[in-house]
Amino acid sequence: MDQQLHVVTGAFGYSGKYIAKQLQDEGHRVRTLTNSVNRSNPFGGQVEAHPFNFDNPNRLVESLRGATVLYNTYWVRFNYKRDFQHSAAVENTKKLFDAAKRAGVERVVHVSITNPSEDSPLEYFSGKAKLENALIESGLSFAILRPTVIFGDEDVLINKNATQSC
Ligand SMILES: NC(=O)c1ccc[n+]([C@@H]2O[C@H](COP(=O)([O-])OP(=O)(O)OC[C@H]3O[C@@H](n4cnc5c(N)ncnc54)[C@H](OP(=O)(O)O)[C@@H]3O)[C@@H](O)[C@H]2O)c1
Repeated sequence: MDQQLHVVTGAFGYSGKYIAKQLQDEGHRVRTLTNSVNRSNPFGGQVEAHPFNFDNPNRLVESLRGATVLYNTYWVRFNYKRDFQHSAAVENTKKLFDAAKRAGVERVVHVSITNPSEDSPLEYFSGKAKLENALIESGLSFAILRPTVIFGDEDVLINKNATQSC
């Protein structure tokens, strides 16, 4: 069987690292799109890293070309003062979906959140709802995951609560 190329956003981060590892274990070639190309690569160079290139759509398309599946974990966790806002993450993610379509990616697996709603007063949840709708309307084949919380060794929220309650 030919080795498939799978693209995972943020493979040097939290959930992306586990997705990338599982794909590698299944024998797939993995590439990541990341804001952190210079962060230490836990895959020893076996995962090729490309910047997101949100400002250069043609480059973004090229970094997705040939991919069977795009796993999208990209998001901005909190609203920061300047560039890192939920609204920016929404616009950037739409660019990512457009690029995936232009690149001929066969399927997008998109990580959303539990109970997304465009009516939510919380931008995290309204932004996630906008992105689900954008993906549904894109014509791409997709799967949307809606976790409440993702737990692992690196998780801050659950581990901190567990430590404090001991
Ligand atoms: N963690 C949870 O408990 C939880 C619960 C429900 C839903 N989710 C969803 O699951 C997805 C993955 O979550 P995660 O915790 O695994 O995320 P993460 O590893 O912290 O980040 C995922 C991606 O978003 C980028 N990113 C994160 N914060 C950013 C910022 N301030 N500015 C610019 N880029 C930023 C990361 O950049 P780099 O490429 O530089 O690493 C990475 O590409 C997200 O869409 C999140 O909404 C998470």
